[in-house]
Amino acid sequence: MQSQKKLTTNDIRQMKLEGKKITAVTAYDYPTAQLADRAGIDIVLIGDSLAMVVLGQDNTIPITMDEMIPFARAVSRGAKRALVVADMPFMSYNVNSEEAIRNAGRFLKEGRVDAVKLEGGIRFGSTVRAINEAGIQVMGHIGLTPQAASFTSGFRAQGKTADAAVKLMEDALVLQSAGAFSVVLELVPAEVARIVTEDAHIPTIGIGSGKYCDGQVIVIHDLLGLYDRFTPKFARQYVQLAPVIVKALQDYHDDVVGGRFPAEQHTLHLDKKEHQRLLRKRTKFRHSQ
Ligand code: KIV
Repeated sequence: MQSQKKLTTNDIRQMKLEGKKITAVTAYDYPTAQLADRAGIDIVLIGDSLAMVVLGQDNTIPITMDEMIPFARAVSRGAKRALVVADMPFMSYNVNSEEAIRNAGRFLKEGRVDAVKLEGGIRFGSTVRAINEAGIQVMGHIGLTPQAASFTSGFRAQGKTADAAVKLMEDALVLQSAGAFSVVLELVPAEVARIVTEDAHIPTIGIGSGKYCDGQVIVIHDLLGLYDRFTPKFARQYVQLAPVIVKALQDYHDDVVGGRFPAEQHTLHLDKKEHQRLLRKRTKFRHSQ
């Protein structure tokens, strides 16, 4: 098990300088955050993917700050070592910088997270700067940005031409100079991710963007095989937990129906004397009715 010293954004930056790979997973609750800590994961992200994989929505658009904060709080309670980052939901930072600062602040004060993440490049440079100047650490997210993809290009790879790749590079550098401590690169070609990673001073955290990024992030439901509606091609399923869970639930169901659960070892008994007294009281009680 890793030591319990809480990681900071400086530690994450330092890992890039030292050439150490950064590991990140999404987490939405207390036990998962604890397990991620035990596994030595560096960053836990309360992704707005929560809308889909936990709340069963079709995309990430509907989720609100009020819905996300209790999950963020639970994750923060569980993660004693990992840096905790909360994803700013759609329209929590898009209107203006004041609202963005207020909502980022809610994540810190109410959700007790260490940093926030928001989707978008150059267009959100001033927002990232404003949040950062308010004293809140920001992770950027460029390439495929699912909030925008829901309305525009769909869930397609980004940066597939030299011009588009240069634009991504500009996005990353604007976020860096606005004070972002790292940037997620989602679904961009490995060659592009490599160039961004080499030229940016802040760590790149890849998802579907190849091996050259400074770190990787994955939706935990994809990693554990817990979400059956859709698994992106780039996600590696390390275990298929869904059938394991269904089997346990079936066994429980069958044991209850078959009278095998609860068994003696799961049962609490009354002291013999108290039992006798209770039976006498019950007889008296019955006669008095
Ligand atoms: O919402 C999310 O889970 C994310 C990660 C996939 C980066 O943004």
